[in-house]
Amino acid sequence: MSEETIVEFNQISKFFGSVIALQEVTMHIKKGEIMCLLGDNGAGKSTLIKTLSGVHKPDKGEIIVEGKKIIFDSPRDALDMGIATVYQDLALVSLMSVTRNFFMGREPIKGFGPFKTFDIEKANSIAAEKMKQIGIDIRDVSQAVGTMSGGERQCLAISRAIYFGAKVLILDEPTSALGVHQASVVLKYIVKAASQGLGVILITHNVHHAYPVGNSFTILSRGRSMGTYSKQKLSREKLLNMMAGGEELDKLEVELKEIDRIGKKNN
Ligand SMILES: Nc1ncnc2c1ncn2[C@@H]1O[C@H](COP(=O)(O)OP(=O)(O)O)[C@@H](O)[C@H]1O
Ligand SMILES: [Mg+2]
Repeated sequence: MSEETIVEFNQISKFFGSVIALQEVTMHIKKGEIMCLLGDNGAGKSTLIKTLSGVHKPDKGEIIVEGKKIIFDSPRDALDMGIATVYQDLALVSLMSVTRNFFMGREPIKGFGPFKTFDIEKANSIAAEKMKQIGIDIRDVSQAVGTMSGGERQCLAISRAIYFGAKVLILDEPTSALGVHQASVVLKYIVKAASQGLGVILITHNVHHAYPVGNSFTILSRGRSMGTYSKQKLSREKLLNMMAGGEELDKLEVELKEIDRIGKKNN
C-alpha cells in the first residue's frame, strides 16, 4: 500500500441470500485520484458503494482506511472517517434555503448556554462564499434550493461534503440527469476537488463523462471486478468496448473467421 492510498477494498464479498452481489472485489483509492466505477445494471456498483459507506456490512473481506482495518456499523461511522457519499437523489430539500441545505442542522452556533442559537448570518456568508468558490454566484442564499439548476444542486451537495471534512467522495451517477453543459460544470468541479487532494469514486454509465476526468477505471461485471486500469493503459475505444461487452464480440469474430478459413481449406 502506498502512502497516498486512502481506502483499500480487500477481497470484499457481499451476498443477498443466494444472490452474489459482490465477489472478492479488490480496489483502492488514492489521494487526488478520480477512480471511475463502471458496469452494467446489476453489476454491483451500488452494493459496492453502500458497503464502503457503511450501509451494508461485507460478508467477506476487509476495508482498510488509512492503513487501519475498519468495520463500519453505520453510515455515520463511515462519515466520521471522512467517507462521504452523494447519492443520486442528493438528499436536498427543495423548499429549504441554500444555506439550510448546506448545513442541515450543523449551522455555526452563537451565544452560550440557554442563549445558544444558530448563527444565521455566519451560515449565510459561509454558504455564499463556498458556492462562489466553485463559480456559482447566488444572489440570495436564503432562496429555496429548488430554484437552482440540477448541476448547481449537484455542486452544492459536493461542496457540502468537502466542507464537512470528506477525504473520499463517492458520487453515484452525478451527471446522469444533466444536459451537456451542466454535466461539464459538475465534472470540472469534481476535477478541482480531486486536485485539492480528495479521492473521488465516480460512478457513471457514461464513458464520455468518465474518460476525460478519470485517472483510473474499475469495471464491474456481475459482482466481479474485471480489473482496475490506469488511463495510460486503457484507450477510450477499449473502455467503450469493455463496457459494451465488445471484447467478447471481437473474439467471436476471430473465431468465426477461423472457422470460415478452415471450411474453405477443406472444400
Ligand atoms: N438489498 C438487496 N437485496 C437483495 N438483492 C440485492 C439487494 N441490493 C442489490 N441486490 C442484487 O445485487 C445485485 C447487484 O445490484 P446493484 O449493486 O444494485 O447493481 P448496480 O448498482 O451495478 O446496478 C443485483 O443482482 C441486485 O438485484
Ligand atoms: Mg445502482
